[in-house]
Amino acid sequence: MDVLVIGGGGREHALALALSRDPEVGDLHAAPGNPGLAQVATLHPVDALDPDAVADLAASLAVGLVVVGPEAPLVAGVADAVTARGIPCFGPSAAAARLEGSKAFAKEVMAAAGVPTAGAHVCTTPAEVEAALDATGAPYVVKDDGLAAGKGVVVTEDRDEALAHAAACSGAVVVEEFLDGPEVSLFGLCDGTTVRPLQPAQDFKRALDGDAGPNTGGMGAYSPLDWAPADLVDEVTRTVLQPTVDEMARRGTPFSGLLYAGLALTSRGVRVVEFNARFGDPETQVLMALLDSPLSELLHACATGRLAGVAPPSFRAGAAVTVVLASRGYPASSSSGDVITGADAVPAGVDVIHAGTATTPDGDLVTAGGRVLAVTAAGGSVAAAREAAYAGVAAISFPGAQHRTDIAAGR
Ligand code: AMP
Ligand code: GLY
Repeated sequence: MDVLVIGGGGREHALALALSRDPEVGDLHAAPGNPGLAQVATLHPVDALDPDAVADLAASLAVGLVVVGPEAPLVAGVADAVTARGIPCFGPSAAAARLEGSKAFAKEVMAAAGVPTAGAHVCTTPAEVEAALDATGAPYVVKDDGLAAGKGVVVTEDRDEALAHAAACSGAVVVEEFLDGPEVSLFGLCDGTTVRPLQPAQDFKRALDGDAGPNTGGMGAYSPLDWAPADLVDEVTRTVLQPTVDEMARRGTPFSGLLYAGLALTSRGVRVVEFNARFGDPETQVLMALLDSPLSELLHACATGRLAGVAPPSFRAGAAVTVVLASRGYPASSSSGDVITGADAVPAGVDVIHAGTATTPDGDLVTAGGRVLAVTAAGGSVAAAREAAYAGVAAISFPGAQHRTDIAAGR
């Protein structure tokens, strides 16, 4: 089966690497891709936010499967357009992608499905925001209702900062009850009816060591989580993933693709922090490093409603760790054009996943975004994988490079 991957970040490079190692995959294409993807796939230019352009490309390549990586094309209706051409597409319809595209919609679905989540106030005026902050108390959690690339959320003890973030939000503002406890990312493959959970992972959202600094798209990840309760996956499948998929089907907007449950393991039980409608980045990097199943079969089954009929995803023993190298200024800004050295000189067994990179006409690899590379390694334990990933990080440099030194430390 020939496969087209849509997107050009670290998640898409990690998915493409797994697809390139899958014996069922013939030609692998990516659009628009990045220099890392170019090592495993044929790249094609496309406006990933233009559903007809993506569908035209998929039809002209006659692929058997399109895999949409990022949320923005899904919310724009790319999966609808591809599916309308009769081409199987991994990723939800625009209507189902609203689970990520609108936090208020996600709250409504969770309430209807009885899914445990933080209490929330959806506010449209400053007065409503003030009242909601008074009702929840500190720490304050203030979220932009719409897509904000991981930067729409502020968690703060400072009421003025909470008010300032609310004022800067583009649309409705969601003020939430604060959830304490460790966070876990659990992904469910879905075909509209059936859910198959992947292995839990943990993402490091804050920019700086010790979970200090602003929220980012994610600065590193590891999997599995040997400290997590043994029944976590079963419990979350039963109380979160399956009820959500059932509720979406009941509404006539079945969810197929990947349902990302961002969870807090609070003292009062598991609560959903957020839903996303696509694979997490950088959690995908560690999950793909450990996946034992042929990825194309699972994704194709999701796209064609046959997930119950294929073997559930399985993972190799051991662990994987990924460490993100970000460019100067991230997450407030980013720096482009800094020359990257050492990306092809990492120790054997380390995967250098490209997120925000470009190649100059002279052939130099340069930065082209906030998160630049995700240096990923597997090992017999989290500690061994961590050591290998950081050995890879040590081999790479570019001006302004920043990374956390405590990803998966002490796990
Ligand atoms: P979100 O975009 O909703 O995932 O939020 C990004 C990050 O903000 C989460 O991963 C949490 O670290 C933090 N966060 C979001 N909502 C809450 C909450 N209700 N309580 C505590 N932290 C939160
Ligand atoms: N790593 C967080 C996300 O993908 O949203």
